[in-house]
Amino acid sequence: MVKYEKRIIAPSLLSANLSFLYKEIKMLNESKADWIHVDIMDSSFVSNISFGFLFVKHVKKYVSKPIDVHLMISDPYPYIKQLVEYGADHIHIHYETCINLNRTITYIKNYGIKVGVAINPHTPVLLLKEIINDIDFVLLMSVNPGFSGQKFIKNTYSKIEDAKNLIISKRSSALIEIDGGVDLENSFFLFKNGANILVSGSTIFTDSNPKEVISKLKYS
Ligand code: DX5
Ligand code: ZN
Repeated sequence: MVKYEKRIIAPSLLSANLSFLYKEIKMLNESKADWIHVDIMDSSFVSNISFGFLFVKHVKKYVSKPIDVHLMISDPYPYIKQLVEYGADHIHIHYETCINLNRTITYIKNYGIKVGVAINPHTPVLLLKEIINDIDFVLLMSVNPGFSGQKFIKNTYSKIEDAKNLIISKRSSALIEIDGGVDLENSFFLFKNGANILVSGSTIFTDSNPKEVISKLKYS
């Protein structure tokens, strides 16, 4: 059972100014952000490359909040152990990348950390039916994964509804996380409709007062 505050904000470092990473982390530590979201990509599952696993190790030294790792890589299983050693607190794997999803979920949980399953905008929530009681988070991608700054896909609202129904019907304690295109306009409706966690990149880091944006997102 995950016992987190209901409205969680997880800023995504993908949009941070990496030339001043320490400064950005310090800002996040001082802000109302709950977690730090780290996107790892492999140019295979998505057509982009972001951070390697070592990034998590270095960020971990300075962040005072849980690290929420989102793996957009084709075959996550071989890298889980290393990521745990480097300090990941949560690991999200994509449904689309795991042939043996149950095995990968169990493997992550055996390390005593939290696990989420992410699904792309075109993937139906119902495909999570058999594993919904084994996971801590359902991560609904509200953009096609790979890049920050994309437009929010409105169909996400009906997927939140589907996720809520599945969670209730199976008596699961999974929380619903939304990733992609979250802004100060849709955050209110996302929380209102049942999202528990909002990941946000460009909305936070392109603003001149990112701390204020984080607070606005949280109390929207
Ligand atoms: C996209 C990543 C997101 C991204 C969100 O594939 O998973 O976490 O950083 O960025 P914004 O909020 O700008 O859409
Ligand atoms: Zn992400």
